[in-house]
Amino acid sequence: MAASNEEVIGMLKEAYSMELETVMNYLANSTNLDGVRAEEIKKSLAADITEELMHAQQLGQRIKQIGGVVPGSAEVKGNIGGQQQPPKDTTDVMAVIEAVIEAETNACNQYKKIIRATDGEDYVTQDLCIRLLAAEEEHLVLFRGFLKEYAKS
Ligand SMILES: [Fe+2]
Ligand SMILES: [Fe+2]
Repeated sequence: MAASNEEVIGMLKEAYSMELETVMNYLANSTNLDGVRAEEIKKSLAADITEELMHAQQLGQRIKQIGGVVPGSAEVKGNIGGQQQPPKDTTDVMAVIEAVIEAETNACNQYKKIIRATDGEDYVTQDLCIRLLAAEEEHLVLFRGFLKEYAKS
């Protein structure tokens, strides 16, 4: 059975918070990392920041369209903080790659949850979440590739 509109708004707000948490951690990691090995990862994360912010914007628009209100920082704050934090060792590229893979996997799972919950009912939200899922799967493949390469060196 499809979720109620209220439940969908709640799930979209959760996804919105997750995107913003990702923005914060990618910002930190794309800045903090040191060393030659980190350069490609920093570039890739820096490019992702705008994309993840766009995801939050699209989620916000949908929340508004279906009668919800986009949360401010206080409400978002209660929903974030679960992601792996930037490593203390700023040369620990592997820790960053693993944190990104975890964050992207969680994002994929959240979108899959919304896709299932809106099935047969809210096609526009479902379509948005399918497109967001495709984007996060791309990030996931990219960072799994980095993991393969960096695990060797
Ligand atoms: Fe995203
Ligand atoms: Fe992503």
